[in-house]
Amino acid sequence: MTQDELKDAVAAAAIDEIEPWLERDTILGIGTGSTANRFIDRLARLRDDFKGAVASSEASAERLRGHGIEVFELNSVGTVPYYIDGADEVNAHLHMIKGGGAALTREKIVAACADRFICIADASKRVERLGDFPLPVEVIPMARSYVARELVKLGADPVYREGVVTDNGNQILDCYEFMIDDPVAMEARINAIVGVVTNGLFAARGADVLLLGSDAGVERLTSA
Ligand code: 5RP
Repeated sequence: MTQDELKDAVAAAAIDEIEPWLERDTILGIGTGSTANRFIDRLARLRDDFKGAVASSEASAERLRGHGIEVFELNSVGTVPYYIDGADEVNAHLHMIKGGGAALTREKIVAACADRFICIADASKRVERLGDFPLPVEVIPMARSYVARELVKLGADPVYREGVVTDNGNQILDCYEFMIDDPVAMEARINAIVGVVTNGLFAARGADVLLLGSDAGVERLTSA
């Protein structure tokens, strides 16, 4: 199967996972990226079975609206029963690196408000140790150079993602050459640098369920 077919398969599996629990007043949390887009496209069929969604990016909000799904402000919603999103890397503990699409901060906020985080990913995203994928860090623009110097002290090789402005008006540093042994500790350590908005480690709040697509089918994993 191609990677696109695997993304389709996990999007379909996520629909199967949530469909029995949808009620007319359900508001879902929806992620960002090509896998999340496939989920959004499949969700369109169910739009009369639930109330709407909170989106983790302007792009996902626009796609949801395009399918006639109402998009709500998180502040008016409180919590969501499910947050469904992709990942750039995921380990056996269902810790993730996310933010390849620069939506990490809003993704982390919606995930924090979710009862259950369902991660949908093709098997290429499953790793033993996080870090081959460069870890994104969202920074306040005036702090970019300072934060980069602090990240170098932690052993990373941060590179400014030129031309990218996040939905929050900030910038992204991608940390190369940065293998991560303790994702929970490193997530907190990077977030403690002044000027960091957040980093793409989703470890303190990882996924609850991973739907992982491979040629053998979609495997359903829970955190180890
Ligand atoms: C966006 C993300 C995405 O979930 C991540 O980049 C995976 O994207 P894709 O499904 O396109 O592989 O974190 O900020």
